[in-house]
Order: sequence, then structure tokens, then C-alpha cells
Amino acid sequence: MNPVILLVFAVGGLWVIQKIVGYRNALRAINYFPGHRTVFDIRGMSSLLPRIPYITGGRNGGWKRKHDLFAKLDRDIISFAATFFVVADPGAIKEITASRQRFPKPVEMYKGLQFFGNNIVVSEAEEWKRYRKICGPSFSEPNNKLVWDETVKIVHDLFDNVWGSRKEIVYEHALEVTMPDTLHTVSDGFIVKLLTPKWAVPYKKRFRQVIFAFEELERHMHEMIDSRRNAEKKEERYDLLSSLLDANDDPTDGQSKLTDQELLANIFIFLIAGHETTAHSLCFSFGLLALYQDEQDRAYQEIQKALPGGRDPTMQDIPALSFIEGIMNETLRMYPPVVSVPKISAEDTTLSTTNSAGEKIVIPVPAGVTVNLHAVGLHYNPKYWTDPYKFSPERFLGDWPRDAFLPFSGGKYKITVKEDPAFAGETFEQKKERVLKAKGGLTLTPVRMPLVFTRRDW
Ligand code: HEM
Ligand SMILES: *[C@@H]1O[C@H](CO)[C@@H](O)[C@H](O)[C@H]1NC(C)=O
Repeated sequence: MNPVILLVFAVGGLWVIQKIVGYRNALRAINYFPGHRTVFDIRGMSSLLPRIPYITGGRNGGWKRKHDLFAKLDRDIISFAATFFVVADPGAIKEITASRQRFPKPVEMYKGLQFFGNNIVVSEAEEWKRYRKICGPSFSEPNNKLVWDETVKIVHDLFDNVWGSRKEIVYEHALEVTMPDTLHTVSDGFIVKLLTPKWAVPYKKRFRQVIFAFEELERHMHEMIDSRRNAEKKEERYDLLSSLLDANDDPTDGQSKLTDQELLANIFIFLIAGHETTAHSLCFSFGLLALYQDEQDRAYQEIQKALPGGRDPTMQDIPALSFIEGIMNETLRMYPPVVSVPKISAEDTTLSTTNSAGEKIVIPVPAGVTVNLHAVGLHYNPKYWTDPYKFSPERFLGDWPRDAFLPFSGGKYKITVKEDPAFAGETFEQKKERVLKAKGGLTLTPVRMPLVFTRRDW
């Protein structure tokens, strides 16, 4: 045989053997924990391929099968490829999101969002904290009011100027109502933008469209920046763009400066992340209301009652619009825009879940494996949601399982020391001593640590 061909076969054979050995080792490390065995996990390119048994999980696999794979294996944590866990157990999810140190964000999975530079999504630890500190204060009550008022204006503009006096407005795709064109092309064209080399752009219309939309968005971002910078009067503003610009121009209160690249990259990320999620969920809620006319009637009645004479809603009306809020939540339960949130295990550890008999199952989780928080599996988990495929906004009006609802991911809690009148006058040092008091034992043991965990809005 031709020695070159022989060499190719030998190298190829070695590669396959190496893959198999690596795969078996990975399986051993998770104690052969039951799961769906595919050589490639759902990450990255393999999710673009169709489903091939034992090779790939399939396109949209995480969305299509809801809670089915969990039900089939009778447990709420399953492994896919041997280095990939998927979690639909509220307790385990809480444990994972509670510790960013044990389960950090796998930054390299987000690298595709970096065309304009480093940003809050593609960063973790100190860098993430820096961006977070700049952006955080914008998500405040005054900003909510700004967004509310602006929304009322936009909806008026749609009704008065776009729909006008027409009795019936038909859309082939309702996303046209909720999502601006350029942003749609940009978010739909991510893969094209990532994978298309410059020389190939002129050859295909789709390539040209996507590249053009990216350029247009970049121009638009520069316009936003310039018009805000050149505004005649500098008014007190509470919005995100202003916070980012301040940090870029003249950082106050000890913030480090945001470079021009970082400024553009973060504006881009907020535009995309903000538009995609809200436009898509609004679109899904329209579709659900179109299908479930009874629910739509109930919503209409609530609005008529809360806003007599068809007056504009203010934020004070929110409590009287709880069914509408139920529709929003029910839409986010059934169609969570962010289907799953990836984490990575920083150390060898374990997670636990239960089966339908209530027996505890402990799962070894080696360092370096991906752990996916699966909102869809959780939201369709019949243990927590009766009749999970049914659109029923009402389920949010009474008591509902808060831990089994994860559209915005979790773990953002503020921790404070529990107030106690018995210790009203104590100094910080006294409080510190009381709260952190420790004793021996098998290992060092905290004695009594009264804390309060308050969910953060952001
Ligand atoms: C229906 C509305 C929305 C949903 C369901 C949603 C969901 C999510 C989820 C699940 C994450 C991942 C959180 C994590 O890693 O723990 C996330 C992150 C993020 N979202 Fe949203 N989001 C929504 C609206 C928005 C809006 C309106 C904006 C912008 C104003 C936005 C900007 C971001 C950004 C910048 C991140 C990354 C944050 C970070 O890595 O620290 N999102 N979102
Ligand atoms: C909707 O979900 C949010 C966030 O999880 C929650 O704070 C709110 O109370 C829910 N509203 C209703 C009506 O269920």
C-alpha cells in the first residue's frame, strides 16, 4: 500500500482510538451517570447539524424535547455527551446560581458575540464586575418610568401613524410589529457574519444583506453616541447609554475608564440582548392570545376595567393589571427566550436531584464539565406545573412555584444580616463577632448566622 495512505489511516485510526478512550474516561469520571450519549455535546457547531444518534443532539434539541428526556430517564439532571450536564431541578439550579465561584460563566462559549470588542456578556470575574458596576445603576425606578413612558409613546405612534384608521392590519409574520428590521437581520445573521470570509460577501445576496445590516447598526450606534454627546443641554439622565458614555468620557466615582471599543461593544450587546428577548416574547404572547381567544377576552376585560375610557396606562396601574402580568409570565414560562444558561464546573463536586419515587440521586460533577441550566426542561416539568403545555395565565394569579420559573436565570440575591431588635445598638465590630462566631467540630463550624437573602431586580 502507498505509504502516504497508510500514514493517513494510521493517524486517523489513532485519532478515533484517542476519541473513544477520552470518551470512556469522561464517562468513568461521571460514574456512567445515565444520559443521552452523543460524541459531540450540544455546544457550538454540533447544534447546527441535524440530529444523528450517538453523534449530535440535533438542532434546537434543547427546545424541542422540553422535559421529555428528563422524564424518560426519570431524573431532573441528565448528561448529554459525557462532559455536558443539563439541569431541570430547581434545587440544583439554586445551588449552581448561588455560587459564581463554583460554577462560573464559560466565557469562551460567548466569544461569537465579540465582533465589536469586549463586553459584559463575554466577560466574567473582575472584568464583568467593572461593566456591571457601570451598567447596574441604570436599572432603577427612574429608568423604569422612562421606559414605560417611551413605550406608551411608541405604541401610540404605531396605532396612530402606522396602523392609522385601517380596520384590519394583516402581518405574514407578527415579528414585523415587535422587531426593527436591521436588528432582525443582525440577530438572524450572526452565524453568517461569524463564518463568512470577506472575499465571499459579494457572491451571495444573504451575505450582503447581513453584512450591510451590521454596518448599518454600527452607523446607528455611532449616531446615538454623537447625538447624545452633542446634545445642547445636558439633562440629568438615568438611562444605560448615558451611564456608558459617562464611563467613557469622564468616569466619576472611581470607575475605571471604558475604552471606545468597549463602549461600542456594550451598546451593541444591550441593543441585541434587549431587543431579541422582548420582541420575541411579545410576539409569542400575541400568538398565544390569538389562539386562546377566551384568555384574550379576559385580558381585554381587565384592561377595560383598569383603564376606563381607554386612557393611557401609568405604572400605578400595574397592580390592577395582574392578569396581563400573568400573560407575560405564562409566555416566558412556555417560550423562555434564553432556553438555557451555560455554566462550567470549576472544581470536582456533586449535584443532587430526585426521581419520581422521591429517591435522592447524587451526581459526580468533575471540574471542567459544562452544566446547562435548562429553563425549558424546568418550565415544562410536570412535577411543578400541571398541564405544562396549556397556556394558562391564571396559574400565576395564586400561589405558583417560584423556584421552577427561570426566564431571567437566577442567583441574583442580595445578602444582609437579619435585623434583630435585641442587638439594636451594637457596633459593626460587635455584629461581625456575633455573626461570624465559629466553633470547632469535625471542621470549623459557624455557630449562628442569621442572614436574609433578598432577590435583586437585576
Ligand atoms: C423578556 C426579557 C428578557 C429575558 C427573558 C432575558 C433573559 C436573560 C437571561 C436568562 C440572561 C442570562 C443571565 C445569566 O447569565 O445569569 C440574560 C442576560 C443578559 N441580558 Fe437579558 N433578558 C431579557 C431582557 C433584557 C433586556 C431588555 C436587556 C437590555 C436592556 C437585556 C440585557 C442582558 C444582558 C446585557 C445580559 C448579560 C448580563 C451578564 O452577563 O451579566 N436583557 N438575559
Ligand atoms: C411574574 O414573574 C415575576 C418574576 O419572576 C414575579 O416577580 C411576578 O410576581 C410574577 N407576576 C405574576 C402576576 O405572576
